[in-house]
Amino acid sequence: MVIKFKNLSFSYGTVDVLKDVSIEVKPGEYIGIIGPNGGGKTTALKLILGFLSPNKGSVEIDVPQTKIGYVPQINAYDKEFPISVLEIVLTGSLSKLKWWGGLPPTEKTRAKELLKEVGCEGLENRPFGTLSGGQAQKVLIARALMCDPEALLLDEPTANIDAESEQAIFSYLKTLQGKKTILIVTHNFEAIIKNVERVLCFQHVVSSMKPEEVCKHFAIGMYHG
Ligand SMILES: Nc1ncnc2c1ncn2[C@@H]1O[C@H](COP(=O)(O)OP(=O)(O)O)[C@@H](O)[C@H]1O
Ligand SMILES: [Mg+2]
Repeated sequence: MVIKFKNLSFSYGTVDVLKDVSIEVKPGEYIGIIGPNGGGKTTALKLILGFLSPNKGSVEIDVPQTKIGYVPQINAYDKEFPISVLEIVLTGSLSKLKWWGGLPPTEKTRAKELLKEVGCEGLENRPFGTLSGGQAQKVLIARALMCDPEALLLDEPTANIDAESEQAIFSYLKTLQGKKTILIVTHNFEAIIKNVERVLCFQHVVSSMKPEEVCKHFAIGMYHG
């Protein structure tokens, strides 16, 4: 077990988001997270990351906090914000900052290697705001990998990007399968059926299903209610 929710409930004030959720994720599992908007997917990732605490029940994480890579959901960001691609990737190494604020020089080398791995070689010095949606997501994946994570959490990394980049991201994640525990939030059913080992459907409560069961559940209205 890497991640375990036991009878977990969470609400933001009076807004109940998760109700009596119990899930377990095994090391190396590749999990797809689906569910309607507002179903609690992002909240669940934030509970795993320790950004939020449950109101009831518990979260157990068998991975050090510094070994969880996170690709946050981005809806909009400031395209003028003056930060380069390389700098963005290096923010994934903040836990390795020295007391004087410097990073070991090996981090820069590693950042460049990761950019190459995700297909963003040559973009190091570009302002982050000038990238396409697909490029930006790949850069954020490289950033999440800087901590050499045991678990990788990705929140809709393929929303609003071109089909080719989406395919590239799923192909890349395939290369990590079994080596890292992967949880990916996505609305791409086709990719889910082709790629993941298990699906968790978040709709305030959570159901676990096999990828091939997703269509059936979708058809009977479980997903869109
Ligand atoms: N910081 C917050 N304060 C209050 N309500 C929030 C906050 N973040 C999310 N919510 C609400 O909690 C519910 C679940 O949100 P979220 O976990 O982001 O859903 P999902 O990622 O599945 O779309 C939504 O109704 C959302 O409006
Ligand atoms: Mg979300």
